[in-house]
Amino acid sequence: MQRTAHTNDIPAKERDWNDVRRLLPAAWHRGRTQRPSGAVRIASAATPLSEHFKLTSQEAMVDLKGKVALVTGATSGIGQVTAEYLAEHGATVILGVRNTDAGKKLAQEIMAKYPGSKAECGPPLDLMKQDSVKAFAEAINKRPGSLDILVNNAGLGYTKKSFTEQGVGMLTQVNHLGPYTLTRLLEKKLVASKARVVNVVSVTHRITTIRDAKALFTDWKGGFYQHNKLANVYTAFELQRRLGARGLQAVAADPGAVRTNIYNNSPKLGRGFIKTMIDNCYAPPEDGAQAVIYAATCDWAADQRKRKDGSPLQPAEDLRYYARGVFTWPQLCNDWALGGKGIKKVKGDIWGASTVVLSFLDWPLRRLLGNGLMGRTKLCRPGSHAYDADMSAQVWEASAEFAGVPVQPQV
Ligand SMILES: NC(=O)c1ccc[n+]([C@@H]2O[C@H](COP(=O)([O-])OP(=O)(O)OC[C@H]3O[C@@H](n4cnc5c(N)ncnc54)[C@H](OP(=O)(O)O)[C@@H]3O)[C@@H](O)[C@H]2O)c1
Repeated sequence: MQRTAHTNDIPAKERDWNDVRRLLPAAWHRGRTQRPSGAVRIASAATPLSEHFKLTSQEAMVDLKGKVALVTGATSGIGQVTAEYLAEHGATVILGVRNTDAGKKLAQEIMAKYPGSKAECGPPLDLMKQDSVKAFAEAINKRPGSLDILVNNAGLGYTKKSFTEQGVGMLTQVNHLGPYTLTRLLEKKLVASKARVVNVVSVTHRITTIRDAKALFTDWKGGFYQHNKLANVYTAFELQRRLGARGLQAVAADPGAVRTNIYNNSPKLGRGFIKTMIDNCYAPPEDGAQAVIYAATCDWAADQRKRKDGSPLQPAEDLRYYARGVFTWPQLCNDWALGGKGIKKVKGDIWGASTVVLSFLDWPLRRLLGNGLMGRTKLCRPGSHAYDADMSAQVWEASAEFAGVPVQPQV
């Protein structure tokens, strides 16, 4: 909805909300770089993205000079900010996007903004089509040099009920099977490069379980967004279990609640009161991308956890989930904190509702209280079911079957 100069032209609902906003402290408005309801744009052309990261000044990042990073879904939102940040800090960034005109334009914009930076648009990558994923992976495999960072970011929040020719629900195809296939087809190059793989996940994985791995693909309701995001966590963990000892580093990163285009298509979230809440209470992409950027660039060894007896975790046990803000709070995030098995008695929808309410509090709290410790990306626990190694392996195996790749990594 475009804002105009004449108050009378502004719909009553938005006018009311503007009145409320004027009463809020200045801190609320700081850092708002995106217009409500507007398409997401990265920070102003004159401002380096690193300016937006000063508040939390993240811990030591690995040197990105000479590294090659592939970011999928880089045409908007979190992926766009991530790609720009990695290029700003010296990585050669490949944009894995379906709209290559937008990708080429973005690559040019990034290189113009950061003289000496390197960004290129890869061949078209449409995660709705396995053929496109395979052709894209082939081109990346043929590209000389390493592939040091893969950010599986592209995703859809909602789509009308539809299935691929293979009978896979379209949401699962885009959010899980496409990225899984891409990662598996690149695994040899990734292992050879001792790469970092970041799966962009969501707090919604906490409000659901996957009971039947095949249903994730073929049953429409079994393949909703939250199931896909749980499958993304499983895939990150399974990659780490299977290839961690070979030097691959795989993590899940939750960007939090971020106002991006992802909500625009949803009939429930893309309009009305909820949309107004999202536009005003969710973080801008420059903020939300921090967790993803941190997961992609942090010093792996420095973040290594230890066992209770002080001995280091083996790579296959080093299952990492990064998040920030309220999404790291034990009361929200660790179901064991609410009484272990007791949590099973709480109905999923109550749990889900509380997650939604907290998602509206995260950014406002960080704006009002200061980003400080709450703004830091931290290692935390995902929902405890994400550690279910049996289900994780079942999802991996079913994914391999649908992707047409061997279950065992070919490295
Ligand atoms: N926003 C949040 O609150 C939030 C919270 C937790 C997790 N996440 C995750 O963050 C990731 C990025 O989402 P976002 O919020 O930044 O949303 P976004 O602005 O809508 O970005 C999504 C990106 O994915 C791309 N994409 C969609 N369908 C695709 C397809 N079939 N093939 C290739 N690329 C496709 C889009 O490309 P087009 O421009 O061509 O459509 C776009 O570049 C997603 O994985 C999402 O699940 C978001």
